[in-house]
Amino acid sequence: MTTQDDNLSQLHVDRDVLDGYDGPVPRHVGVIMDGNGRWAQNHGLPRIKGHHEGANAVRRMVESCRYLGVEVLTLYAFSSQNWGRPEDEVKGLMTLFDVYIKRERDRLIANGVQMKAIGDRSKLGERLQQAIAKLEADTAPNAKMTLQVAVSYGGREEIVRAVRRLGAEIEAGKLSAKDIDEHDIERNLYTGEVPDPDLVIRTSGEMRISNFLLWQIAYAELYVTDVLWPDFDEVHFVEALRSFTSRERRYGKTSAQMS
Ligand code: FPP
Repeated sequence: MTTQDDNLSQLHVDRDVLDGYDGPVPRHVGVIMDGNGRWAQNHGLPRIKGHHEGANAVRRMVESCRYLGVEVLTLYAFSSQNWGRPEDEVKGLMTLFDVYIKRERDRLIANGVQMKAIGDRSKLGERLQQAIAKLEADTAPNAKMTLQVAVSYGGREEIVRAVRRLGAEIEAGKLSAKDIDEHDIERNLYTGEVPDPDLVIRTSGEMRISNFLLWQIAYAELYVTDVLWPDFDEVHFVEALRSFTSRERRYGKTSAQMS
């Protein structure tokens, strides 16, 4: 089911496939984009080529979400732990992020998508930090959808950061420890007031969370597919959505209470 809003004309998605889904659309979808390396290996290519192909899948996913009316899409692009990968792969990924930002800017704006990076951006190169800040500023007025790109991101690191920030508020006499509640934690996460993910998709078959949005996914539905991220397309997304629709979300209550 598509939202009947304006300027969907520029979206390059397989509309026939997406129109085939008529269930409820999750407000927030998170994706652990895994399998780029294996995709490259399967095609006899260097790993970085898998990441390049992964960037094409990113565009497809962003535009599919925009078409269906998903409010927030969070993509796990580079974890805090990914800094430990071989230097040439890290460099290649950083260059790819830079290229993506420049390449996608106009499309994101035309499609009304706001981009925000979440994670420890101080670890990124100066040039990439500036490119991210510029894209965030350029897309800030866009209100149709928010794309959160998790770069140099780790869920545990994010929680540690939130605790430190709360500690600083206590030291400054702005907050008392006994008054801390969930909202205080949330407002100190990178994701701020954004609604929690309803659905988290992981590609390439691994049954792991890998430090992704640890606080925010407390009640998310998890969907794992064997498809490698560069191959993930509208058909696979609709399969994930259909699985999501078939779940009964109980938030700790009983089935009878929910109905
Ligand atoms: C995991 O696959 C993927 C990554 C660490 C990088 C994800 C990056 C992209 C999809 C590139 C484009 C992203 C943006 C936002 C422009 P892997 O390398 O661990 O795969 P493997 O497990 O098969 O080795």
